[in-house]
Amino acid sequence: MSSGTGGGYWADKALPSVFKHELLRRYLPQFGGMTGTQSHDRRVVYLDGYAGEGRYENGDPASAEIALRVATFLRGRPGLTLECFFSEPQAKSFDRLHEVVQQYLAQGVRAHAHRGEVDGVLDQVVERAVREPLFLFLDPCGLVLPQDRLVDVLARKRAQKRPATELLMNFSMMAVWRLGGHVRSPRGNDRSLQRFDDVCGGSWWREYFADAVASRDTDGAAADAIEAVAAEYARRLERRTGMLVQSVPVSHSPRKRAVYRLVFATRSPYGLWVFGDTVARARATWWETLEEREADDALFTMASVSRPDPKEVEAKAVPEIAANLTQLLTRVRRPIRLVDHTLEVFGAFYGQVTEPVVRRAVHLLHQQGRTLSNGVGVKTREITLHPGNLVA
Ligand SMILES: C[S@@+](CC[C@H](N)C(=O)[O-])C[C@H]1O[C@@H](n2cnc3c(N)ncnc32)[C@H](O)[C@@H]1O
Repeated sequence: MSSGTGGGYWADKALPSVFKHELLRRYLPQFGGMTGTQSHDRRVVYLDGYAGEGRYENGDPASAEIALRVATFLRGRPGLTLECFFSEPQAKSFDRLHEVVQQYLAQGVRAHAHRGEVDGVLDQVVERAVREPLFLFLDPCGLVLPQDRLVDVLARKRAQKRPATELLMNFSMMAVWRLGGHVRSPRGNDRSLQRFDDVCGGSWWREYFADAVASRDTDGAAADAIEAVAAEYARRLERRTGMLVQSVPVSHSPRKRAVYRLVFATRSPYGLWVFGDTVARARATWWETLEEREADDALFTMASVSRPDPKEVEAKAVPEIAANLTQLLTRVRRPIRLVDHTLEVFGAFYGQVTEPVVRRAVHLLHQQGRTLSNGVGVKTREITLHPGNLVA
């Protein structure tokens, strides 16, 4: 199975990468801000394990340069060092990456480019972060590291809550699709299947495709199987690491299936909250870029038709989130801090709407007398809701 980037990948940014990079660009500085105080030397360690070239041929920053820019930003006002590690085995990509890294080294950013596979640097990076927060970004074109390897790092070497550890990982749906074909074919490639067994931490995933073979609608069943495998992968990662795990689909267009899911793992309720908010913001940028690109191409004007109106989504979300909050208060019958209940607060709108929408829901509840808290003066996630007249 190919693990390199195909021709044209580095020419300019494809839409899935618009979402991925916006998420990284927005989330990484917040990770630094939230966890920097846990470090004994104001250093936060970052690994981009499948770094690629670092910058597109059209000059746009790719994942490595995005992190280097974040590092430059964090050196400024918060005065934090984001120590960046990058690994890339492919010679041409590495040379370009190296050049980008040199430019930031010259500006005082602490960064290391390693020519080789991620597996060869992972332990060294974990060592560099023994007393520091660690963020792992693993973004292969094909299959990611074996789950046992990830669990060894996340559950054994980094089992503690502090200093924080977080993971953002690309789980390729295209690869699962291809491998599902191997399960279904009598001429399926055994080595590829075993390699994916390792990624999944067992051969459990094969059963999903064996079921699909029995179905009449093979393609539809295979599509369901891919989704089910991705969901089960995330559940197992959560169970084996004891972390909070969320995954979000990433695609080329609203009419196409996800090419991959970004799997996020954290031990922090703040991480979970901020990730959901950031996903919603990155999704908005994805839609805007899609609309711009389609406007440039007169043949395609579908995006504006199929994009849910953000104002309408928010108008729907406010009462639903208010209802979630009422349910929560009714159930626990004591004051609750929003960040401790992220998934229940956002409900179906997790990753769909940003945190100001939750503040509007709190205002609504306050107006209705269901909570004594008006949420003024603190960050939304820090709001503590005191039950009011819940049966009003
Ligand atoms: C999807 S690209 C990376 C894109 C990059 N993260 C970005 O968003 O700008 C995946 C890269 O991983 C590299 N790669 C493949 N196998 C690898 C391995 N075992 N360890 C590290 N990198 C690998 C490929 O050469 C390719 O450049």
